[in-house]
Amino acid sequence: MFICTGNICRSPLAHAVLNHLIKQEGLTDRVEVESSGTSAYHVGESADSRMRQTALSHGVDIKNYSKKLTRGFIEEYDLLLTMDSSNYRDTLSLCRTPEEKNKVIMFREFDPEGYGDVPDPWYGGMDGFEEVWEITWRTCNVLFDKIKKDLNIY
Ligand code: 4NP
Repeated sequence: MFICTGNICRSPLAHAVLNHLIKQEGLTDRVEVESSGTSAYHVGESADSRMRQTALSHGVDIKNYSKKLTRGFIEEYDLLLTMDSSNYRDTLSLCRTPEEKNKVIMFREFDPEGYGDVPDPWYGGMDGFEEVWEITWRTCNVLFDKIKKDLNIY
């Protein structure tokens, strides 16, 4: 479960990229990917057109409709990957047990080239969306390798 604020830019991109990698290797029946937002502000909306355009230029189609993070998602998913530190705090505050808290991880823990927040591109220009693409692409590739190792797929 990828988590950002609006579920219209960063987490739908990570969701689409990981699904793209999973499909490429025929593992769709082994891994379930979702995304949601800590805010309900954009619920029901498709992803931001600037994010979709950036992803499409790299061959990835984003098909998400915005959902709000719920308690059900926290119980259901094994990994709760947050895009920034505010999303991290908000997600932790919805957790009820140490086991649930242990599932919450900053997405960029898997970034081979950096750490911290995936910058929120909402108020910036197209270069911000391209930067989000670059961070997300390399991070999802490392994350996918880890998932395959955890599933004993080499
Ligand atoms: P996201 O980007 O969290 O990556 O989907 C945002 C989209 C909308 C807003 C904030 C962040 N907003 O404040 O409306």
